[in-house]
Amino acid sequence: MMRIGMLTSGGDCQALNAAMRGVVKSLVHSDEEIEIYGFLNGYKGLIYSDFRMLTASDFSGILTRGGTILGSSRVPFKTIHEPDENGLDKVEAMKQNYHKLQLSCLVVLGGNGSQKTANLLREEGLNIVSLPKTIDNDLWGTDMTFGFQSAVDVATNAIDCIHTTADSHGRVFIVEVMGHKVGWLTLNAGLAGGADVILIPEIPYDIDKVVEAIEDRAAKGCRFTILAVAEGAISKSDAKLSKKDYKEKLTHYTFPSVSYEIAEQIQKKTGREVRVTVPGHMQRGGAPDPYDRVFASRLGAEAGQLILKKQYGFMVSYKNREIVKVPLQDIAGKLKTVDPDASIIREAKMLGVCFGD
Ligand code: F6P
Repeated sequence: MMRIGMLTSGGDCQALNAAMRGVVKSLVHSDEEIEIYGFLNGYKGLIYSDFRMLTASDFSGILTRGGTILGSSRVPFKTIHEPDENGLDKVEAMKQNYHKLQLSCLVVLGGNGSQKTANLLREEGLNIVSLPKTIDNDLWGTDMTFGFQSAVDVATNAIDCIHTTADSHGRVFIVEVMGHKVGWLTLNAGLAGGADVILIPEIPYDIDKVVEAIEDRAAKGCRFTILAVAEGAISKSDAKLSKKDYKEKLTHYTFPSVSYEIAEQIQKKTGREVRVTVPGHMQRGGAPDPYDRVFASRLGAEAGQLILKKQYGFMVSYKNREIVKVPLQDIAGKLKTVDPDASIIREAKMLGVCFGD
């Protein structure tokens, strides 16, 4: 008998259900007798022993369903060692609940912070298998995370829709795409949607270069310009500030987000009408696209096989078109950012995309 705990942690994304379904299907197709404990709302469920016993039928019919049937929450890694408001030691509580249920292993579906906690639990002696979830595609050790392609679809669709109205009115439009620390989503949705300017955290921008790109287009007779701007886009001057000074600057920040600051600067410098569109959490919502359904199912299936072989301490990942396993200690705490010298950036520049650098 194997007792499998499972939880979905951090910001949700498309294909979480597809991935869990993949794990369970792969397990129930073995000769092993399986019990599944679904912890509710991420690590909170494990800390406070909030779980449901699930059967294979709970995972049936959820391949196409967005969100997560287990619920999710953020339990920040940086506060994991701090006792909760009642003095509870969260790490000890997770260990105790794991052992009380006599779990064979814990399956964690999560992004960066969640993988760090997964690695901590591994160090504490728990058997862990994890899966790479996030629309940001910023997990080290995998070329792709599930949720990313579906989010690219949503953000691209937003840019497509903005194109027609921008053209009608001859306006400059900013579409703000999710991603505070990395620009994978903005870069891919921007390219797919034919954005003229793409601003990502990894390539600090000079507003005058952005303005130059807008005026160049206007001079060529283009009626509109579309900017895809990451939540975490940063100007060259801000990027030069120390962390402390930048934080201090943000305490006086009056714009709802960087896109509104850029919009105001463009408006002032060009006199052109600028509008901002923020698709926001729509990018994480709705059904997974076919790519993510297949991808998450494959990751889930391989995770199930690792569990059956009792190979613990790994994240199932995707490298060079193969599903592989990577040790949790090798990925925890590392971010996969866009390399400003990568060929995709060079090629985008060949296409005339301005990165503001
Ligand atoms: O990590 C996924 C993500 O959607 C980021 O792209 C975004 O910056 C952040 O989560 C938003 O977090 P929350 O849902 O907590 O507002």
